[in-house]
Amino acid sequence: MVFPEKRMDHKETSGLKTYLKEKKAYVDAALQKYAPSPEGPASRLMEAMRYSLFADGKRLRPILCIAGCEAVDGAPETVLPVACALEFIHAYSLIHDDLPLMDDDDVRRGQPTNHKVFGDAVALLAGDALLTEAFHLMAGLDQASPIPAPRITQAIQLIAEAAGFDGMVGGQAVDILSEHKPADLDLVNYMHTHKTGALITASVVSGALLAGADDLRRKAMESYGSHIGLAFQISDDILDIEGDAKAMGKKTGADQVKGKMTYPAVLGMAAAKKIESELIRKAILALKPFDHKADPLRQIAQYIIERKR
Ligand code: IPE
Ligand code: IPE
Ligand code: MG
Ligand code: MG
Ligand code: MG
Repeated sequence: MVFPEKRMDHKETSGLKTYLKEKKAYVDAALQKYAPSPEGPASRLMEAMRYSLFADGKRLRPILCIAGCEAVDGAPETVLPVACALEFIHAYSLIHDDLPLMDDDDVRRGQPTNHKVFGDAVALLAGDALLTEAFHLMAGLDQASPIPAPRITQAIQLIAEAAGFDGMVGGQAVDILSEHKPADLDLVNYMHTHKTGALITASVVSGALLAGADDLRRKAMESYGSHIGLAFQISDDILDIEGDAKAMGKKTGADQVKGKMTYPAVLGMAAAKKIESELIRKAILALKPFDHKADPLRQIAQYIIERKR
């Protein structure tokens, strides 16, 4: 296990690196299977969906879903469609986040943003289609799955809640409506836990839930997810100031220009860093009911604040 007080040593870093690489390849192969092939009169739409989906993302949400499943001894292939659906939802959120009427960004995942290539209307529709396809994929799960249908319904419900008005979309609304507003810690907290924390939490909890986690473990996973979810957005805010645009595959320095309410803007850089470290410490503590099978989750927690992209 990785103790939060110290940085990851070389062995832990290379172990996690291999883990993330392997899982990403596993997820990417499945995404190829589930993503629609461009054909027919709407083929341009499918091209736009694939353009963002297969760009160089970290696949953090599907990996968390798989790691959550494995932490309770589940078989990763049983949650793979849900893991991919989470990446569909995430990819949609990035396409919409970059649109001129949202953050108006030109670069994402190391390439021109979706609307720069396909135009605003097709980009908007590609996002809509990715979101819809995510639920189509999950709803089709019960046909061949060994997982009991009520558990699948529960997972779909919690992912819908995390993605919707009281989750990611709600957080995105607050983000846009709070531009150039006076610093407000409660508001930035709401924003970050909703726009980013909710889907990250749902990723790890759905994996554990589908694998049959009991109430205690499910709650522990919720606590882990919400702590790393908030830390993830704080680190995104920090990387916007201190990160390298090339490594991150997106522009840096934009939050301040757009008057975004971020953790460093509200509390200052030193306090933002202290809070993210504390969140990671609590996330790892929350995993107490789990044995070594949750070690990847412990290492991912630490990685979230040490990452460069
Ligand atoms: C970027 O998410 C958007 C935020 C929620 C901060 P990621 O940093 O996970 O982006 P990808 O998937 O690796 O491109
Ligand atoms: C985006 O937050 C969160 C979602 C897409 C839901 P940001 O706007 O900070 O993400 P980046 O920095 O553009 O990736
Ligand atoms: Mg945004
Ligand atoms: Mg943005
Ligand atoms: Mg950002």
